[in-house]
Amino acid sequence: MKHKTSEMMAMLDQSHVMRYMDELSAEEKKELVDQIDSLDLSVLGVDAAEEERGKFEPLFATTLEEIDKKREHYKKIGLQAIREGKVGAVLLAGGQGSRLGFDKPKGTFNIGVDHDLYIFECLINNLMDVVKEAHTWVPLFIMTSVDNKKDTIDFFREHNYFGYSDDNVWFFAQEQLPTVDTNGKLMLADKGKVLTAPNGNGGWYASMEKTGMLKILRDSKIKWLNVFAVDNVLQRIADPCFLGAVIDSGKVSGAKVVAKAAPDEKVGVLCLEDGRPSIVEYYEMTEEMRTSREENGMLSYNYGVILNYLFRVDKLNKTLKVKLPLHRAFKKIKYLNDDGEIVTPDEPNAYKFETLALDMVKLQDNCLAYEVDRKKEFAPVKNKTGVDSVETARELLKYNGVEI
Ligand code: UTP
Repeated sequence: MKHKTSEMMAMLDQSHVMRYMDELSAEEKKELVDQIDSLDLSVLGVDAAEEERGKFEPLFATTLEEIDKKREHYKKIGLQAIREGKVGAVLLAGGQGSRLGFDKPKGTFNIGVDHDLYIFECLINNLMDVVKEAHTWVPLFIMTSVDNKKDTIDFFREHNYFGYSDDNVWFFAQEQLPTVDTNGKLMLADKGKVLTAPNGNGGWYASMEKTGMLKILRDSKIKWLNVFAVDNVLQRIADPCFLGAVIDSGKVSGAKVVAKAAPDEKVGVLCLEDGRPSIVEYYEMTEEMRTSREENGMLSYNYGVILNYLFRVDKLNKTLKVKLPLHRAFKKIKYLNDDGEIVTPDEPNAYKFETLALDMVKLQDNCLAYEVDRKKEFAPVKNKTGVDSVETARELLKYNGVEI
């Protein structure tokens, strides 16, 4: 077994990952060989080559104005779906938060100023608004990484789930993929372990299957899943109006979007690609796409996504066999260097491979773009300072009357 593994590593020019073999105990050796055998090495073939894209067309949103006119109607439909147990929520909390530079799960970050207010707490408070209105709990599935699962669960327990019902919360870990350095070489986490990182936020439904979460879904009445990012502290979760609008539209998915602040804002835009819903990244847009306007003066590609999607479960089941594309991201990742020392880099040093939630949108037949007010619903905590930072999120929390 070990022999086969070392031959394979040699063939792939990756023998260095076994260079500390002699220093390992028999048990550690076996663990390393087993880990290598289980690695998805398809990442070694992923390069920066840009994916070929189809023909883009604008996808217009149901606007704030239109939503306002039908708010009560949509809310009624949404609340009914929640009360009938048809709606679950999936919190994507498996990221590494490398830009924030916070070593623990991002949700455990304390964004409070005068008192403690954790990111997870903000999200639970927001969800509690819906629970109170619907008079029922919304099942909440929390995706973590392998590394931050225990810390996340312990944190929720220590804080008594911030008042949420623990019977309605499930935790599951996403899978890991190997990372490579700038020379395409696998890296080590320690002498007996190849460095791996969470496989991106696109594999959440496949990870729900692998971890038994879909059994829970099957035993429930859940027909819709609202999937959302951990780092937006103003995130409205299982928002009855959004649910109602998507259900009423007859579409199979929905995406919350915000109008772009400027033509060159760095945000992924919801559009159509070869007639299907898709997200075009800002750097993939031509100058013409960025600046093109409709007759009413509005940008043609105007609606940025905020990682808050609604999917129909029966349609998600059909995506389980599809292998999502892997994207490369250059990140700061702690590793073991050639001198056998652990290094915590200040600058990006490694490529991690990620599937993206937006590629799940592309697998849907259609998608309702649902406009929200960015000041009320979009306060991402990505960086320590500057754009989309702790500072800007605090300002937006205050603007919305949240005591920090
Ligand atoms: P980001 O793309 O901001 O990545 O994640 P990140 O790892 O959290 O942060 P950086 O880029 O290293 O600073 C957007 C959302 O997707 C989740 C994150 O937790 C966040 O809610 N995510 C990301 C996962 O759940 N798993 C992943 O592998 C990556």
